[in-house]
Amino acid sequence: MDRFIRNLRMNGGTGKTSYSFNSTVQERAIYVTKPLIEEAALDVFSKFYACSATLSPTENISDGPNKGLKPGIGIADLGCSSGPNTLLVISYLLNIIYNKCREFDSASPEIVMFLNDLPGIDFNTLFKHLESFSDELKRTKGDGFGPCFAAGMNTLHFVHSSYSLQWLSQVPQGIESSNKGNIYISKSSPPFITEAYFKQFTSDFKRFLNCRSEELVKGGKIVVTLLGRRNADPTSLECCYFWELLALALNDMVSEGIIEEEKLMSFNLPQYMPSNEEVKNEIQCEGSFMINQLEAFQVNWDGSHEDDSSEIDSYKAASCIRAVSESLLMNHFGIGEEIVDKLFHMYMTIVANNVPKGKAKFTNIVMSLTKV
Ligand SMILES: C[S@@+](CC[C@H](N)C(=O)[O-])C[C@H]1O[C@@H](n2cnc3c(N)ncnc32)[C@H](O)[C@@H]1O
Repeated sequence: MDRFIRNLRMNGGTGKTSYSFNSTVQERAIYVTKPLIEEAALDVFSKFYACSATLSPTENISDGPNKGLKPGIGIADLGCSSGPNTLLVISYLLNIIYNKCREFDSASPEIVMFLNDLPGIDFNTLFKHLESFSDELKRTKGDGFGPCFAAGMNTLHFVHSSYSLQWLSQVPQGIESSNKGNIYISKSSPPFITEAYFKQFTSDFKRFLNCRSEELVKGGKIVVTLLGRRNADPTSLECCYFWELLALALNDMVSEGIIEEEKLMSFNLPQYMPSNEEVKNEIQCEGSFMINQLEAFQVNWDGSHEDDSSEIDSYKAASCIRAVSESLLMNHFGIGEEIVDKLFHMYMTIVANNVPKGKAKFTNIVMSLTKV
């Protein structure tokens, strides 16, 4: 595994700097994409019920996309992390399944949900969230619903992934110390850097689609949200700004002698923010999925609603970036918490002094796909 990816870990626990506490941006994106998630899920689960509602749990389905399978439902959230957001998505899906059971007046199917992430994430915190989640499930849906297992099988009906696919499987090879003090693609990056990032993204995304096409039943659905851009130019501020500001803060720290210049020169983020067109092309080239919907939307850097205030909450914006990048920074630069505190204080000040609210937005791409 690539050294950067081995060190990629959203901040664990539930404290002030944890991912769990600082994932309101990602939560906003899930609220925005809720109608799309529900529409796709309703379609998959309606078909599932039409074929299996009258079966006992031991009978196999005799017709349709689930033919030959036991009447259980498999769902997955890929890149679930340790915060409560994954359970928010799962709760949307369980509500739809629950309502379908009532509509068909049928017993609940067995539901297997896969909460998948890299090995380093704080699964303990996730399982703590799971305890109260299952209590709530019992309270609202009664003992007869489920059973719901958080574990493994090889046939899925519904796959969700949010804010994860922009992470690459590795820093593109060959770019090492050539990125001129940038930490992601930037206007001053040599063109081959942008090409290397794009190449890595297309290879990873193609593999992602390939693997999902093997796991999903025919007619199964994927809803994916990832950071991206509307602009055709991969160096546009729309997608690079928040990392450019972190590069500014890191360069200031080099000037102050707090971190080594050489270390900054060799630090590149394993991330790529694609355009709608790039994503669409890859899906069409790979060929396993039909695109139901693919669109871009924006959320504020501080996770606030559009009209909450006229200014960005720079502390929240900095905490969000810290929660996702701290482990990479600590491991690469060999720095401790005190220096990370200083770095993100600088980042917060840069955001507060330079970024108008209109520019403090993450662009996201959401897509709903059906396995053909
Ligand atoms: C920003 S978090 C998003 C978490 C959650 N989906 C949400 O919306 O709050 C991105 C997650 O993707 C995970 N991730 C990145 N690459 C991955 C991979 N190759 N396989 C599994 N998880 C991955 C990271 O570990 C991280 O927990």
